[in-house]
Formats: sequence, structure tokens, C-alpha cells
Amino acid sequence: MTIKDEFSWPRLVQQAEGLLSVSSDRISNAANLSALIFQEVHDISWVGFYLLHGRTLLLGPFQGKPACASIEWGKGVCGTAAASAKIIRVNDVESFAGHIACDVNARSEIVVPLIKDDILLGVLDVDSTSYGRFGESDEKGLAELAEVYLRSVV
Ligand code: SME
Repeated sequence: MTIKDEFSWPRLVQQAEGLLSVSSDRISNAANLSALIFQEVHDISWVGFYLLHGRTLLLGPFQGKPACASIEWGKGVCGTAAASAKIIRVNDVESFAGHIACDVNARSEIVVPLIKDDILLGVLDVDSTSYGRFGESDEKGLAELAEVYLRSVV
């Protein structure tokens, strides 16, 4: 019998460091990081990247149901996080004016802007069907994963 190891953010960060060390390609590493997060983090319904092209965030690698293909700068939680260059945590998506409902079952969300050498590459977006799913430790863990991603890519 095997007992599944307990989840810990530092361990996931370590796993991500290994996984992303073999490539420096933005798409490959975004694909692997979203798969790792989706596999390891409990109670999330969607995780993925929106990558900046001009003033539009275009859907990149993700795990979960099909999602909105593009988000304009400053729109929705993703566009707001991109424009403000700040992490946004939303406990109840209905309370966020302008939230874009790609999945009607999503209840809470966290978006981490991806900034490398002062340039915004895009955002990492994670959704849950539970209210208030993302706390401070999740924010810290996802911010560290974003740093691992940013260090890994050229
Ligand atoms: N809810 C996001 C849109 C992206 S989906 O959640 C995958 C937003 O308001 O920007």
C-alpha cells in the first residue's frame, strides 16, 4: 500500500524547479507547469496561462475546461492583474465587477502577473469551484511557482 505524501507548497516548488530545468521555452514550460499544478493542487477546476500579445491576453497552455480565448488589457480579473502588475485574489467571483465567467461554476480565483526583467509576459490564472479557496499560503506558493517559471524561460 502506498500512502500519498501530504501536499506542501515548498515541495511543489521544488518539483517545478526540476520539471522546468530541462527547457527554457515559454510554451513548453507553461504547459508543464499548468499540468503539475492541476495534478497536485487540490480543489482547483482550472489553471492556465494568458500570454500578452500587444494589449491582449491570449489563452496559452492550460488544464481544465475550454476557456475564453482572449482577454483585453484591464478587463476581468486577468486583465486587471496584468494592468496593475499585482496578484489578485477573489474569494467570490460574483463580487468582482467585470469578472469574466469562462466557467459558470467557478467561485473563487487567483491571478498572478508574470513579469520578467520589467516586462509583463502574461498571467497565471487559477480557478476553483469553492468559495474563498485561495488563502495567503496559496498566494505565496503560486507566486513562488511563477518565479520558478520566469527564471526558467528566456
Ligand atoms: N475569470 C477570468 C477569465 C479567465 S477564466 O477564469 C479561465 C477573468 O475574469 O479574467
